[in-house]
Amino acid sequence: MSRVEVRPFEAADLAACGTLLAERHRQHRIAEPLLSPRFEDADAAIAELTTAFEGAGASGAVAFRAGDLVGFVLGAPKSSPLWGPNIWVEAAGQAATDAEVMRDLYAFAATSWVAEGHTAHYVMVPAHDAELVHAWFRLGFGQQHAHAIRPASRPATSMVPRLSVRRAIRADIPALAQLDLELPMHQGLSPTFSPGKIGTVEENLADWTEDFDDDGYVTFVAEHDGEVIGSAIGCALEKSSAHLGPARPDNAGFLGFAAVFPQARGAGAGRALGEAIIDWAAASGFDSVVTDWRVTNLLSSRTWPKLGFTETFLRLHRMIGY
Ligand SMILES: CC(C)(COP(=O)(O)OP(=O)(O)OC[C@H]1O[C@@H](n2cnc3c(N)ncnc32)[C@H](O)[C@@H]1OP(=O)(O)O)[C@@H](O)C(=O)NCCC(=O)NCCS
Repeated sequence: MSRVEVRPFEAADLAACGTLLAERHRQHRIAEPLLSPRFEDADAAIAELTTAFEGAGASGAVAFRAGDLVGFVLGAPKSSPLWGPNIWVEAAGQAATDAEVMRDLYAFAATSWVAEGHTAHYVMVPAHDAELVHAWFRLGFGQQHAHAIRPASRPATSMVPRLSVRRAIRADIPALAQLDLELPMHQGLSPTFSPGKIGTVEENLADWTEDFDDDGYVTFVAEHDGEVIGSAIGCALEKSSAHLGPARPDNAGFLGFAAVFPQARGAGAGRALGEAIIDWAAASGFDSVVTDWRVTNLLSSRTWPKLGFTETFLRLHRMIGY
């Protein structure tokens, strides 16, 4: 096989790279038909890639073998301090005819990323492509996060005794404000060690009081013997700032938040809340439900797959310099 030649990603590469992205997405949809068919179309893939290329600080690499394009990678920094001195390769930001080429592409692109001080690297990889995932593993990346999907319809399941789920009412606001703390508190612990801000009950009470009637969101609470022990929030996926481009299925509902108080976990409340969101999504006419989780969160990473969510994109992460 002839040598791969790698050079910087340029505007003139957008059409060929978009066509390669559309082919990647076609393969992805064979494994996961709930993903949007839109990006199988080369024009849609080129448009998505053009937006990424024109974003602030975007840069990347393209690879050729015997004159033919065999892969590209395109990344850009996010401004939020949450991610450190970062570069993100989003869901549209890579494709290769042969996974090994991705290692040449990253080696080339990361040279300038790191030279410019971008040492925290995040990359969204299609979950169906085990060879591509392993190529990234052989670049020192590990899995940080999972994006997942399931159909909106589901068979009915049996009820857990003394547990019920209902729509939240204003009188639930004090419990909802407490429950909002549970996710960041849990994810601050080992083995997630997320640096996310924990906030205060007072801030959460104020937010809930102001936003409770926002009909873009639906909130359910789980009660055990009449006491609120958990909550879950659903909305249209468009309300989420994550799940972009090929990772944004059409007409999808979103399970955006769920938490159960620690003493009540493991007894079926999380399942009942997740099912309430899935049923709401089906009743609202959504075709699928999307969610995501930190794979180091031992609770959510075990709960959502049990509810039928399967991974669509893996977010891999590498920190340079330590
Ligand atoms: C995630 C969370 C909402 C799940 O609620 P829960 O009441 O503990 O979950 P359930 O008892 O209903 O369990 C749901 C499913 O996951 C499985 N599960 C839960 N914990 C598990 C564990 N530690 N090991 C293996 N399976 C587990 C259960 O067996 C169940 O599947 P099944 O019904 O097929 O048996 C809850 O643990 C929580 O609040 N965690 C902290 C905050 C958080 O991570 N929120 C999610 C944000 S993405």
